[in-house]
Amino acid sequence: MPHASLEAHALPYASLLLPYQPESVAAARRFVGAQLREWGLDDLVDDAAVIVSELTTNSLRTGCRTRMLVGLRRPAGHIVRILVGDGSRTMPVMLQAGPDATSGRGLAMVHRLTHGRWGVTLLPHGKVVHADLATPIPR
Ligand SMILES: Nc1ncnc2c1ncn2[C@@H]1O[C@H](COP(=O)(O)OP(=O)(O)OP(=O)(O)O)[C@@H](O)[C@H]1O
Ligand SMILES: [Mg+2]
Repeated sequence: MPHASLEAHALPYASLLLPYQPESVAAARRFVGAQLREWGLDDLVDDAAVIVSELTTNSLRTGCRTRMLVGLRRPAGHIVRILVGDGSRTMPVMLQAGPDATSGRGLAMVHRLTHGRWGVTLLPHGKVVHADLATPIPR
């Protein structure tokens, strides 16, 4: 039986640090798409692209400097976790956007695409937002 911490290190994980610039949204999308395809999870690429676009756009708006983190993990066999970290300790709040609202829909979209499986981990110098997608059951 491998030691638990060794097992944790063996978890598939990929991450990228990006500047707080609008171009980083597309860069995050490309990174996540390429990694999912490498894992053979092409079916998740579209939903993951929406999620990572919304989360990185939110991180951009924090006005943080240095770098935001974009990561992909597979915490369990059937789950892909998208992570976006920034240097702000302000918590994201899912809004109830009215029909005429032009904003306030991003997290609601993440909530819908993940069936509510998303969350935030507060860190000493920022936070990480995660969103989980279920992998298709192999036939
Ligand atoms: N990374 C973040 N850091 C700090 N606050 C955040 C972060 N993400 C979201 N928020 C807060 O949560 C609110 C809701 O985010 P959400 O993405 O749902 O809507 P929005 O970004 O305001 O509009 P839209 O995504 O539709 O353009 C934001 O207005 C912001 O106040
Ligand atoms: Mg948003």
